[in-house]
Amino acid sequence: MKKAKIVALGKWLPERILTNVELEKMVETSDEWITTRTGIKERRIASSDITASDMAYLASKDIARNEPIDLIIVSTSTSDTIFPGTACLLSERLGLSNCACFDLSAACTGFSYALECGRRFIEAGGSKCAIIVASELTSKFINWKDRSTCVLFGDGAGAVLLKGADKGGIIGSYFNTNGKLGDILKIPAGGSKMPASLETVEKNLHTIQMDGPEVFKYAVLAMSEAIERVLSNHSLSVNDISLFIPHQANLRIINLLSKRLKISDEKMFVNLNRYGNMMSASSVVALDEAVKSGRIKEGDLILMVAVGGGFTYGATLIEW
Ligand code: ACO
Repeated sequence: MKKAKIVALGKWLPERILTNVELEKMVETSDEWITTRTGIKERRIASSDITASDMAYLASKDIARNEPIDLIIVSTSTSDTIFPGTACLLSERLGLSNCACFDLSAACTGFSYALECGRRFIEAGGSKCAIIVASELTSKFINWKDRSTCVLFGDGAGAVLLKGADKGGIIGSYFNTNGKLGDILKIPAGGSKMPASLETVEKNLHTIQMDGPEVFKYAVLAMSEAIERVLSNHSLSVNDISLFIPHQANLRIINLLSKRLKISDEKMFVNLNRYGNMMSASSVVALDEAVKSGRIKEGDLILMVAVGGGFTYGATLIEW
């Protein structure tokens, strides 16, 4: 059986940079508070005419060119519309036909889940060439008057091309969910439970609502569990991994994870200082930057780990 291997990566980030200093003029906050509590210095914000499918297209167009793509999975919690799915819109933009397309919603863990689905399609022979995309336009789902959330998020998109290979590729994974924690991180309105109404709009219920300290606590526990399970399933230790790519939500979460599992700073990839939390796009943009900056070399063992609303979490072991 062939393994599913990432053979190309792409990303797209809006040009507009929103700094902490600018946020000081929008809400009662400070660069010092945001930096010390989160590690974030700036984030990218898309212009109002951009959609999640535009960003997905810009991230994937170069890796998709001239490829016989038969599967598109887009991870997004900020899709253009409830349906049609962003993956369908993307197939049209890329000029593809004979292609299975669907969206996947698992909040910040979405890229890991989408990659796992792509892997299983390829390993089962259902796809020969897939693109797995994460596109998140978080800025349109933020209450820009809520200082406890608006400083955390940013916009961005990333994509990978996945093909069958005899050597290397995705070699293991672990996924889990704790549905009891659904309420600590959510967008309450706009779905069938609370359809859009004047009242939901007035109360800002279409924006991200979060219990920060609870999310913080469970994020550390969930990512620790996912890493430990993947390592033990493969009889590996932290020392065998060349680079960890954790979800980029908060530097303090990443530092606590490192401390708990005794992972050195050099082995933890961090870019959240420049982008903030781009939900599921964070993982794939980080992977793209780690590869293109030479932090990942052929044969390296990489462990991606993510956590997000749901509460979803998971880890993916890749031999590069
Ligand atoms: N600027 C200044 N003060 C602020 C801000 C801000 N932007 N936001 C909150 N505060 C204040 C609070 O009002 C509170 O004031 P009070 O003590 O007078 O009531 C004080 O700071 C402390 O608030 P806490 O919420 O306890 O601060 P904490 O140290 O927990 O940091 C944070 C908050 C950064 C949100 C943290 O809880 C966190 O990062 N949680 C994880 C959330 C996260 O990453 N979510 C992303 C999505 S989830 C995911 O991706 C897994």
